[in-house]
Amino acid sequence: MKSPHFFIYFFLLLFLFSIKSISAQENELENKIEKVLSKMTLREKIGQMNQINGRNLSDQLYEQIRSGEVGSMLNVGSPELVNQLQKIAREESKTGIPLVIARDVIHGFKTMFPIPLGQAASFDPDIVEIGAKIAAKEASERGIRWTFAPMMDISRDARWGRIAESFGEDTYLTQMMAVAMIKGFQGKDLSKPSSIAASAKHFIAYGAVEGGRDYNTTNITERQLRNIYLPPFEKAIREANCATLMTSFNANDGIPASGNDYLLKNVLREEWGFDGVVVSDWASIKEMIQIGFCEDNKDAARKGVLAGVDIEMVSSCYLENIEALISEGKLQQKVIDDAVRNILRLKFRLGLFTNPYTDLNKKTSSYSESHLQAAKQAAEESFVLLKNKNNILPISNKVKTIAIIGPMADAAHDQMGTWSFDGEKEMTQTPLQALRKQYGKEVKFIYEQGIAYSRDTSTARFSKAITLAKQADMVLVFVGEEAILSGEAHSLAQINLKGAQSELIAALSKTGKPVVTLVMAGRPLTIAKEIDQSDAVLYLWHPGTMGGPAIADILFGKSVPSGKLPVTFPKYVGQIPVYYNHDKIGRPATKKETLLQEIPLEAKQSSLGTSSYYLDAGFDALFDFGYGLSYTTFEYSNLVLSTVTLSESEDLTVTVDLKNTGRYQGTEVVQLYTADIFGSTARPIKELKDFKRISLKPGETQKVRFILPISKLAFWDINNKKVVEAGQFNLMVGGNSQEVLIKEFKVL
Ligand code: GLC
Repeated sequence: MKSPHFFIYFFLLLFLFSIKSISAQENELENKIEKVLSKMTLREKIGQMNQINGRNLSDQLYEQIRSGEVGSMLNVGSPELVNQLQKIAREESKTGIPLVIARDVIHGFKTMFPIPLGQAASFDPDIVEIGAKIAAKEASERGIRWTFAPMMDISRDARWGRIAESFGEDTYLTQMMAVAMIKGFQGKDLSKPSSIAASAKHFIAYGAVEGGRDYNTTNITERQLRNIYLPPFEKAIREANCATLMTSFNANDGIPASGNDYLLKNVLREEWGFDGVVVSDWASIKEMIQIGFCEDNKDAARKGVLAGVDIEMVSSCYLENIEALISEGKLQQKVIDDAVRNILRLKFRLGLFTNPYTDLNKKTSSYSESHLQAAKQAAEESFVLLKNKNNILPISNKVKTIAIIGPMADAAHDQMGTWSFDGEKEMTQTPLQALRKQYGKEVKFIYEQGIAYSRDTSTARFSKAITLAKQADMVLVFVGEEAILSGEAHSLAQINLKGAQSELIAALSKTGKPVVTLVMAGRPLTIAKEIDQSDAVLYLWHPGTMGGPAIADILFGKSVPSGKLPVTFPKYVGQIPVYYNHDKIGRPATKKETLLQEIPLEAKQSSLGTSSYYLDAGFDALFDFGYGLSYTTFEYSNLVLSTVTLSESEDLTVTVDLKNTGRYQGTEVVQLYTADIFGSTARPIKELKDFKRISLKPGETQKVRFILPISKLAFWDINNKKVVEAGQFNLMVGGNSQEVLIKEFKVL
């Protein structure tokens, strides 16, 4: 029997050996980089910093690649063309440095997954990782080895169209989803042909654009950056080794992201040790002139390089000005060499020097059964059940005729969502198709669009829709947004249902038939009235290729809704920004606010009290972060903390009993929140710190256990240091951010 010391020494040696071999690999990599760099001219170095849009092919472009003036490209149309361009770079240029080809593979490549906001609603990092792995496989088969995802902008404003691409309003949930997506894209070995480099974007605070209007100014303090907006990027880089990062379009506090050397150098490189590539967003280097931060293209090139942007996407300030800037002594050769080192490091890590070409004989895995089934699961888990009066869902076997109404019931293109560059609507399975195919034997489905598309104001087809509804036992009305109404540059000042959709729901509700409203949208919508007029409401986001089969099985109870809202739903657009983890204030809303119609005539100025709410909207949101129903019900009891006093180096063990008190097997997302009662600055009223998906059979009880490292309570304090402050805390556990069990504990 070996002595215990033997094992200690053995594992210590193993650890030291592994550290030694990693550093040996890193040294070998750096030596390879230096070897290539040493043979490059300045022009060739600048070429590596130049990224071209692959849509603009020309003889001049081929010549540019041959002369080493192009380092990477995006949007190259086919794997054949990728290989053709790669051959020029690899075999006809002097340096032989391969290109890296990029694409926006945001929520699927060919097999479209739910939009990221929908994927976040699953609270299931595993399915998000699987989806990214599938997207990477499908994309890399087409020569793509770099995606500009995950987008991890904290989004608290539903007017902003890009909330669709985000993981919502919460920092912790965004961190978990971003890390999962990066792991899926990059795999365990970035050099594998089926892996693609991820890009943490958009750095930084782009989701806080004023007015929710895209590309607008942001003014986020360093403290808020540190506590809310930066943590997902830090985790992406320090935990998931995200290979690249993209700067955002916005200027924060007057400094454009592509010119912010404090964030790109001090924070990203020095504090976080990032050794990957920083790429600007589309022409955002040149746009620093429009912002008034740079005088001209040459100034923009200088400030971009000095800030630490390695690659300029599609504008050509770098290519056209860096040589002059160096000869004028306004830039040092070293900063160029450092940028090129980062780019070469990415290309070596991707294995492009040894394996630059795409295997054109490899059979595509796009739309394979396993990919489609994963997309279906992701869609099912993304759906959020917002209302289910009298448990009319799942559909009972007494229902024999169902009227399917609405512009989104058979919207193959829009169902794919905003970033569906390579998705094919012909492959989309819509709710209408899936319901007929999967349940057409048991149920008669009758269909009338009622409205041609989401913005259609015509009510000409209402009468036919009403007639069908009256013939049916139940009405399924599919409404929402065309995909174009969310995503980049698609901000809305009003976030209600467009066109005549709301009137259609009102008309259907008057038929006296049970109405199930299903919403496909890229953002929260202000649908309080439609919710009241419906017996049940399911929020589907834009669910992707397999949205139809997913919703069919959910409606008929083959699977059970488990999604939870990753973002607060406002009652009115005027409430925005409205989010669950807001800082505490001196006069919080109370439950006894006097609303508009209750105000007495000639009421005295101070007679309505002095708390923070809207006279015409109250205080509450329509639905809170973390909210979502199931077909079954869950009961929380017996919240127990391992201790009530502990130091910041300790872990708090939390248990809670969860019981399925309903009739269906279901999955509950158990959420753990903490609240710092008092701090050196005002603190959020609560913050999500952990969550678990727990599946239970009817009647089953499970003791759910969380381990909460007290270090997770650290925040950027009054002295601009990340610390855990001693004091009183609340710990809350529940099925959403409002209905929770509470216990107190103290940090010493
Ligand atoms: C776009 C987007 C960015 C995207 C890039 C390349 O403008 O802001 O998210 O990755 O350009 O398409």
